Amino acid sequence: MEPETITAGEPAMAGQAAKKKVVGSAADPLWYKDAIFYELHVKAFADSNNDGIGDFKGLMQKLDYIVDLGATCIWLLPFFPSPLRDDGYDIADYMDVHPSYGTLEDFREFLNEAHERGLQVMIELVVNHTSDQHPWFQAARSAPAGSPEREFYVWSDTDQRYRDARIIFTDTEKSNWSWDSTAQAYYWHRFFSHQPDLNFDNPRVLEEVLKVLRFWLDMGVDALRLDAVPYLVERDGTNCENLAETHVAIKAMRAAVDAEYENRMILAEANQAPANVRPYFGDSDECHMAFHFPLMPRIYMALSQEDRLPITDIAAQTPEIPASCQWGLFLRNHDELTLEMVTGDERDYMYLAYSADPRMRINVGIRRRLAPLMENNRGRIELLNSLLFSFPGTPILYYGDEIGMGDNIYLGDRNGVRTPMQWSGDRNAGFSKANPARLYSPVIMDAIWGFEAINVEAQEADPSSLLNWMRNMIALRKLFRVFGRGTLRFLEPSNRKILAYLREYEDEQVLCVANLSRVWQPVQLDLSGFEGLVPVEMLGYVEFPAIGSGYYPLTLGPYDFLWLELQSPRVGGEQQG
Ligand code: NOJ
Ligand code: CA
Repeated sequence: MEPETITAGEPAMAGQAAKKKVVGSAADPLWYKDAIFYELHVKAFADSNNDGIGDFKGLMQKLDYIVDLGATCIWLLPFFPSPLRDDGYDIADYMDVHPSYGTLEDFREFLNEAHERGLQVMIELVVNHTSDQHPWFQAARSAPAGSPEREFYVWSDTDQRYRDARIIFTDTEKSNWSWDSTAQAYYWHRFFSHQPDLNFDNPRVLEEVLKVLRFWLDMGVDALRLDAVPYLVERDGTNCENLAETHVAIKAMRAAVDAEYENRMILAEANQAPANVRPYFGDSDECHMAFHFPLMPRIYMALSQEDRLPITDIAAQTPEIPASCQWGLFLRNHDELTLEMVTGDERDYMYLAYSADPRMRINVGIRRRLAPLMENNRGRIELLNSLLFSFPGTPILYYGDEIGMGDNIYLGDRNGVRTPMQWSGDRNAGFSKANPARLYSPVIMDAIWGFEAINVEAQEADPSSLLNWMRNMIALRKLFRVFGRGTLRFLEPSNRKILAYLREYEDEQVLCVANLSRVWQPVQLDLSGFEGLVPVEMLGYVEFPAIGSGYYPLTLGPYDFLWLELQSPRVGGEQQG
């Protein structure tokens, strides 16, 4: 279905609705609260023309797979024209499609096909920086110093300014400044030296950014992920992150979204401590969503230490957010498992526990996929996903993790977690019919993780596969709004290997209990206030003993977890309430 155009009215027309150009594909303005995101790179998903690179036509053929998984929103990694030196986060043209992936027309068709299936689509708004190949940078280098063209970027005669700003890509960059011989000046870059930062002190930059935003929202894109958003503005004497001026720019983007569109969403990629992420929601006038970066490594830490403390500790530090806002939760993504938001000791612990081989490390993090991090232990994979699906926020899955795909730590940069999707045991994992040597990346081929062992076709045929388990869990989660919208309260049983929490929303009450340990654990839960209610296990719909006045005892096997809906007892065989 085409997004409905509710008015083509003149600005002079009276009424709020008249000003809004288009309504997004979702019916509910808070759609992102109940969503399941599925993150993918078009190049890695399916290759329709057999040139070894995935494309929009290939992706269109796989949309039903995404629907069958239960995902409701596709997050597309950058697909714009780019020299691809940072996998497309180095953009050379914001308003087109990289020719390897198709055309703008293909993108439009993909968007319509997704919308027709009830899927929303989130794309990237990467405006902290451009590629050095972007025409703006090419013009800036040779424009006179001080001219509006030059001022699109951040220049300096010395590389000594903003020295309190950390270096993010520590493995490749020695400074946030690089010398440009054409401009005869240094330019500022928070990431690779081929990614010059745009200058948000120049009002023309924000104007251009808003044009880009409108270009994609006019087309019907439902959401934008604001890449690297804490670094938009720099100031002397600060660490150049999270500055008030940066928030002013985000507010301007949000104001444009609110004034001109309905049912759209913007998401902050702010890899920051919880207290510093909170301002990205503003007063409901900045981002609708933000990733919860600090939670993610602590889930891994709690599992490895068999102790709930890292999780409950970070949850206690997580501030309340406005009612219309939402956390984006994830276990893995296309980057390294970042350890920037943990203490030095925690980082040492994580490296030791999850990256025995130094090749598994990059920058300040670990470049591995979920299943290898879990040592291919099905119980651990399921436990982590059960936390992802039941914590407050919207779960975001990374393509391939739903079938337990492996990684290739011998590829450079973060490419080891960006290998082709494994569809079947056919040539090139069913991803492409190209000569294997032509693929943008080798497929994974070893006996444990290779495409013959791990692929969609085999898992679809196997009722006990991880894929079918994931489908089932996602379907279950979607039956209860409490997971996306409810409150969270941790219980404090004396056995710290057990993580137990209550989720509550309107008339839904769910008790989640997880065993973080590799061996059996008993637990006594204090469920006072819920006396008389009957916990019903949600996967099998089995009634557990009613909650009495004393502690409620449970026993959990290795990595077990329980989702229990607390229901009123039946009277005369009929359930109440
Ligand atoms: C964050 C993205 O997730 C990452 O892949 C990229 O390298 C940096 N931003 C720079 O754009
Ligand atoms: Ca192709």
